[in-house]
Amino acid sequence: MPIQAIIFDAYGTLFDVYSIGALAERLFPGKGAAVAELWRDKQIEYTRLRTLSNTYKPFWEVTQDALVFTCRKLGLELTLDAQTQIMGQYARLQAFPENLAVLQALRAKGLKLAILSNGNPEMLDAVVQAAGMGHLFTQVLSVHSVKKFKTAPEAYQLGPDTLGVPAKDSLFVSSNCWDVCGAAWFGYRTFWVNRSNAPLEELGIQPNAQGQTLDALAQFVT
Ligand code: LAC
Repeated sequence: MPIQAIIFDAYGTLFDVYSIGALAERLFPGKGAAVAELWRDKQIEYTRLRTLSNTYKPFWEVTQDALVFTCRKLGLELTLDAQTQIMGQYARLQAFPENLAVLQALRAKGLKLAILSNGNPEMLDAVVQAAGMGHLFTQVLSVHSVKKFKTAPEAYQLGPDTLGVPAKDSLFVSSNCWDVCGAAWFGYRTFWVNRSNAPLEELGIQPNAQGQTLDALAQFVT
């Protein structure tokens, strides 16, 4: 069965979370990369803890909590102004440069395109609109409606439930290998956008295909 729908992760896959490092470097000279990396790790760790313990709160707040912890851990003073600047940048993350053309080409093939993200609806709307991508997606799905973050099956279930396409006929695309594994466990076909040349997670999953950018995805779906 050919692929009928493509479902994208948002942060790190479509939108460049590591671009935050440049602003962090200006605010915390010499520590920008460390802030960006620990922030991302803590953010994802907190989503997992909150899902495991059934203590959901919106991803925007989880992201802010992770930033506060990161600065505390690294011994950096996070002023209200710095916090506002960093979170403001997060709300308007740049899309990776190849994305718009690839999404337009996939859409022109008649494929249903969607986002399925841990992000809450308000933050997803803001980043999608800022990137000029609003018209390209059939659905922008947020785990907010099930109050569990990925990799909970209930989160991945939003794809088939909303698009009407079974997971096995949909391709789930993520730059996060753990998200690829979660999607594959759920039953999706998977494409790993391995932007940072990361090693494969040791979770017993091989993505159906992988590449360094979305251009490789366009070639895979021909
Ligand atoms: C998301 C994060 C996991 O967009 O990248 O769901």
